[in-house]
Amino acid sequence: MRILLTGGAGFIGSHIALLLLERGYDVLILDSFVNSSFNVINRIKTYLDNKDLKYNLKIIKGDIRDKRTVDNIFFESLKESKPIETVLHLAGLKSVSDSVTNPLHYWDVNVGGTLNLLLTMNEYECHSLVFSSSATIYGLSDSIPMSENHNISPINPYGKTKVAIENMFDDLYKSNKNLWKICSLRYFNPVGAHPSGLIGEDPIGIPNNLFPFITQVAIGRRTVLNVYGDNWETRDGSGVRDYIHIIDLAQGHLASIDYLNSNESCLEFINLGSGKGYSVFQIISQFELSTGCQIPFDIQSRRDGDVGVCYADISKAKKLLGWAPKKSLEEICLDGWNWQIKNPNGYT
Ligand code: NAD
Ligand code: UFG
Repeated sequence: MRILLTGGAGFIGSHIALLLLERGYDVLILDSFVNSSFNVINRIKTYLDNKDLKYNLKIIKGDIRDKRTVDNIFFESLKESKPIETVLHLAGLKSVSDSVTNPLHYWDVNVGGTLNLLLTMNEYECHSLVFSSSATIYGLSDSIPMSENHNISPINPYGKTKVAIENMFDDLYKSNKNLWKICSLRYFNPVGAHPSGLIGEDPIGIPNNLFPFITQVAIGRRTVLNVYGDNWETRDGSGVRDYIHIIDLAQGHLASIDYLNSNESCLEFINLGSGKGYSVFQIISQFELSTGCQIPFDIQSRRDGDVGVCYADISKAKKLLGWAPKKSLEEICLDGWNWQIKNPNGYT
């Protein structure tokens, strides 16, 4: 079965690609490499070659907004008698702060790119899709953990593009309830790395996110971690989030493909998280305990746009997909650290 994986060279996409190939899927990656390195592909191949696995992997360097490129992918697959059966759509831009500065670019790539993809899928009668949505679409409220029914009220352009895409799915599904099969997966905080240490997260420039910042402090690339606020209404005053091991998250996509294959038509919005909330101080302590590294930190004022507590109710994913996260916070720390020490400067 051929899968089109857009954004397959990115942090999340590369882990999904590896699992799909291990499971015997024929995988076609479309990526512009605007936020990823071609070395990722070599690493995936190295891993599979070392395991003596036969695999079918094709890479297309191109832009999701380019109609001709996307059309060609479906056309050529059909010509090879390997029609694309399911699309996993991850290609997009993801920086909250960048989206505030360049909103049109975010609408263009995220919404325009998805629209282009959906139009082409429809033309080629491929109606099976797994999409990368985000917990950032949820609005502020005291109802924690957050279920899929939580109010939708994004506060930044990035989150608004994800909501627009989900609305597009809604219109599409309602237009013909017997046609489309869509899982829109709302990720919480994906972290860690593949246990091999061959692939992992490689942010460009100064990391915005907590976890890569911690591993870069540990390896000596940064001197001190800024902790944004110790006066939140949480157990120790620092912000609480739902950190999910990247492999658990990737497994959620495989479970979604199985779910789509066992359904005639559907549109489901599904949280993917660990279902647990950990504070910044808890993450620092666990990282220090697991790795033996010290993480010096400074307390700073709260970061603009942050919330105190955000973690997922994952009962829907468990029930519908038969999926549950398996990896502990300790495994997250160990695998993230293993990736960082094996690749002190990421893929470069
Ligand atoms: P990433 O930047 O590592 O991966 C995205 C990939 O898409 C990159 O390889 C990039 O080169 C590619 N891409 C960007 N624009 C493109 C375009 N116009 N055409 C083709 N390819 C393009 O990000 P990630 O963390 O792997 O995130 C993947 C998806 O998951 C994104 O849609 C993101 O919004 C979503 N998501 C991520 C997180 C997170 O914390 N990482 C949380 C929620 C949702
Ligand atoms: N934090 C620090 N210091 C840092 C970075 C983060 O103290 O250097 C704190 C934050 O204040 C927050 C927690 O660590 O309390 C987690 O912050 P992240 O930036 O790692 O993650 P967020 O939950 O803020 O946001 C991430 C992605 C968003 C996505 C969201 C939900 O960046 O794009 O998860 O999926 F929408």
